[in-house]
Amino acid sequence: MNENEVLRAEGIRKSFRLGKSKSAVEVLKGVDFALCQGETVAITGASGAGKSTLLYALAGLEKPDAGEVRYAGRSLYRMGANARAALRVKEIGFVFQAYHLLPELTVLENAMLPALALPGAWKRGKELRERASALLARVGLAAREKHRPGELSGGEQQRAAIARALVNAPRLIFADEPTGNLDSASGEEVLRLLFGEVAAAGLTLLMVTHNDAVAARCDRHVKMMDGRIVP
Ligand SMILES: Nc1ncnc2c1ncn2[C@@H]1O[C@H](COP(=O)(O)OP(=O)(O)O)[C@@H](O)[C@H]1O
Ligand SMILES: [Mg+2]
Repeated sequence: MNENEVLRAEGIRKSFRLGKSKSAVEVLKGVDFALCQGETVAITGASGAGKSTLLYALAGLEKPDAGEVRYAGRSLYRMGANARAALRVKEIGFVFQAYHLLPELTVLENAMLPALALPGAWKRGKELRERASALLARVGLAAREKHRPGELSGGEQQRAAIARALVNAPRLIFADEPTGNLDSASGEEVLRLLFGEVAAAGLTLLMVTHNDAVAARCDRHVKMMDGRIVP
């Protein structure tokens, strides 16, 4: 194992059973994959190739049927659910295509949300609020803190989601087609901010994109086809 590795996955398999049918569809057919500290990696592939499923499996959001995902040697799905949640909250930021901000919360509250899962968060409200606020300023949303997500454009919502992903100073950012719902100008702004924050903090980025020009801006480009990584 390379000493700079932050994540290593081996033999990841995942099937889904559709409805009541007995037959399962195999979506991941044995994926091996590793990420090194500080690299940016793009995953591309046709719709349905298994990109999102792989990202969820690597991020601890969806347990594979077989295989191992290790963070610094620790097996993500062998540890208990609480330990996995604690690792996720500390180490991983996730940016979704459809933002997934909570509509009832303000932009600031949304950006703070992962910080509230940190140990002792209840004693550190002011500090965490300031941290979220500073991140929102960095993504150009200082004037929008008290707004609800529904009052923001798509690009602004995604920028709030980037602030949320960064609030716990994770080592890794997973992004699943983060500009997939945006026009090209606001998509470019989101990418500029995302790549900028990743470079500034030396974070590791794993991003699914359907855009080869975006993939070319990453250090490494991995292609998926039909549940496998194309060699
Ligand atoms: N929760 C689920 N239940 C059933 N089928 C699923 C589920 N998630 C994904 N799939 C199926 O798995 C395949 C791969 O999905 P996905 O990983 O989302 O692909 P991609 O992100 O590459 O478009 C698709 O055929 C999809 O319908
Ligand atoms: Mg997908």
